[in-house]
Amino acid sequence: MLPQGLGRLYGGGLAINDGSVYANFVSSIDGVAAIEAGEAPSGGIISGRNQGDRFVMGLLRAFADAVLVGAGTVRAEGGRALWTPEFIFPAAADGYRELRRALKRASTPRLVIVTARGGLNPNDRALEVGAFVLTTEAAAARLRNTLPSATEVRAIATGNRIEVDAIFDALRSDGLQTILTEGGPHLFGQLVMADRIDELFLTVSPALAGRRGDQSFGLVQGVDFGRSPKPGRLLSVRRQESHLFLRYALKPASPGGG
Ligand SMILES: NC(=O)c1ccc[n+]([C@@H]2O[C@H](COP(=O)([O-])OP(=O)(O)OC[C@H]3O[C@@H](n4cnc5c(N)ncnc54)[C@H](OP(=O)(O)O)[C@@H]3O)[C@@H](O)[C@H]2O)c1
Repeated sequence: MLPQGLGRLYGGGLAINDGSVYANFVSSIDGVAAIEAGEAPSGGIISGRNQGDRFVMGLLRAFADAVLVGAGTVRAEGGRALWTPEFIFPAAADGYRELRRALKRASTPRLVIVTARGGLNPNDRALEVGAFVLTTEAAAARLRNTLPSATEVRAIATGNRIEVDAIFDALRSDGLQTILTEGGPHLFGQLVMADRIDELFLTVSPALAGRRGDQSFGLVQGVDFGRSPKPGRLLSVRRQESHLFLRYALKPASPGGG
């Protein structure tokens, strides 16, 4: 399934079901996914810019029609980042391209950003290259006037919060079926709450981040599941030196397979 070079780096095969919604995060041993109240580029800091983690991020992006993120994640990156496979791990760019060709995907995944307030910097590289911004009616007019023309702005909510169903309606209406979400924790929490996540790819980085007050977020922030935590099922475990690469199913297996 994977082109040979990617399979060698991954240490085996990998398939993602067409039409599935899957997430990718890195956390510290003590479960921290975001620091400095979500204002730091936390993923790279927590992983230690680990090359194995960056390779897997690129690989998961390479399977996707779209990479879905909240505006907080975009703001935290500070304007330089692109959410493409080759940006995060250039050394495997040829393999990622070969995989996308084999899967009949567009040349790059579409970056889809969810924002209620519309707090996006028009000079961000990802917006200059072209993204798809899902927002509220209140923010849409201003964003259309300020964001680069390569970026499409669509209003999908009348109030100040976008419903998860509306996000998926917009994705599907644009033919975006296989969706990778890279969070962040606030958006991911809503997606988990709405039972939209099929699988979670979680890198556990061999580091302790610590917590003080509400400055750190886990993978899920802003919602809790009380005494009914969402169950996961471990699908695979990989290790590169001290980094662990875990794959979980977050939805029960369908009867008779899957
Ligand atoms: N460890 C990892 O793997 C990983 C992965 C991703 C992100 N992160 C880190 O997470 C931190 C950011 O955390 P975060 O939880 O703030 O990120 P986030 O979920 O990406 O962003 C939150 C923002 O997204 C928008 N949003 C989310 N849900 C919405 C909804 N239903 N309707 C309308 N807008 C919605 C809002 O933007 P507006 O405020 O513009 O309305 C909200 O403030 C950063 O430090 C980042 O580096 C870590």
